[in-house]
Amino acid sequence: MEMRALGATGLRVTALGFGAMHLNDERISEDHAGRLLNDVLDAGINLIDTARGYGLSEERIGRHLAHRRSEFVLSTKVGYGIAGFADWTYECLVAGVEAALARLRTDVLDIVHLHSCPLHVLQQGDVVRALEDCQRAGKLRIVAYSGDNTELRWAIDCGRFGSVQTSVSMCDQANLVQHLPTAAARGIGVIAKRPLAGAIWRFDQRPSEFAEGEYWERLQSMAIDPRGLDWNALALRFAAYAPGVTSAIVGTSKPDNLQRNVEIIDQGPLEPALQLAVLNAFARPSSPFHQNAYMKSCLFPSGVVVRRCHSYGYVASSRLASLKNPSISFRNLFDETDY
Ligand SMILES: NC(=O)c1ccc[n+]([C@@H]2O[C@H](COP(=O)([O-])OP(=O)(O)OC[C@H]3O[C@@H](n4cnc5c(N)ncnc54)[C@H](OP(=O)(O)O)[C@@H]3O)[C@@H](O)[C@H]2O)c1
Repeated sequence: MEMRALGATGLRVTALGFGAMHLNDERISEDHAGRLLNDVLDAGINLIDTARGYGLSEERIGRHLAHRRSEFVLSTKVGYGIAGFADWTYECLVAGVEAALARLRTDVLDIVHLHSCPLHVLQQGDVVRALEDCQRAGKLRIVAYSGDNTELRWAIDCGRFGSVQTSVSMCDQANLVQHLPTAAARGIGVIAKRPLAGAIWRFDQRPSEFAEGEYWERLQSMAIDPRGLDWNALALRFAAYAPGVTSAIVGTSKPDNLQRNVEIIDQGPLEPALQLAVLNAFARPSSPFHQNAYMKSCLFPSGVVVRRCHSYGYVASSRLASLKNPSISFRNLFDETDY
């Protein structure tokens, strides 16, 4: 499976990672959880993501994979939920790292995220300092942030995080333009969470969960033609090969779906016309997300500054075309592209 540098951290991770949130489900037997986790490593996936908040997940990873610890990059998230400490304090963060080390049965955590930490807490500084102190003490390798919106922006801009985890899927594309180019330019690794958008195409009715419900509505209005691909393949190849994404952490409780996802990743990126169609379905002026995707400027890793783009579609088409033919200028593309 394709391996990628996680920004400038020195870690290398597979394009497909495993999101272990679903292992919080008590209906999943211990035996099933153990087999699934070992299947993940046997399939060649080397990134496993969990969190303090995912119930049984950390404990199960420790129980079933401690003997294979050298085979994978271990990512978790902290900030809350430690008895005796107020959430989002220096002490809670240090205790959270200690608790994760114990539950995951390891001497060192590879990536530790502040899990959706509010902006004012980030700016106050104690929580970042706590992770940096744990890093200096050898308890974790990479200080990371997990979240979206202004908090994500702050995390990327402050220069203290080696990696970020944020939403990227065909139903959630704003970060691709608004934040990932800067992350890439600054050597910050990007882990794409919810890369299948919760696989909402499985549902005839709007799911009640907030994010899935929102994604379900978006997918209806995007009216994408998958051109013969199944939806999982379309979604995963889009997210995992989107510019700026290092690894897409798909969650599954089913070994068959895990294997299917490995096969899909090995098919590589979508062909450019289909990728462009998915980008434009999110960004076209008639789309309800158009205003969100509107942007005044965007810095790509190539260093080219695009100003006064009218929509994400312009940026997307420019980016794709310039990858295919670096001699094409953005100005020409603006002139040539019909939106
Ligand atoms: N930092 C954060 O705040 C945050 C928030 C959300 C998620 N995350 C991370 O992102 C990971 C993934 O998020 P997610 O699980 O919510 O969303 P996701 O990966 O976009 O979608 C997961 C859903 O897709 C289904 N699925 C997976 N592979 C499939 C396949 N080949 N065919 C059909 N269905 C398939 C799974 O169901 P089955 O079990 O039936 O396969 C599961 O319900 C989490 O595990 C977690 O690590 C982080």
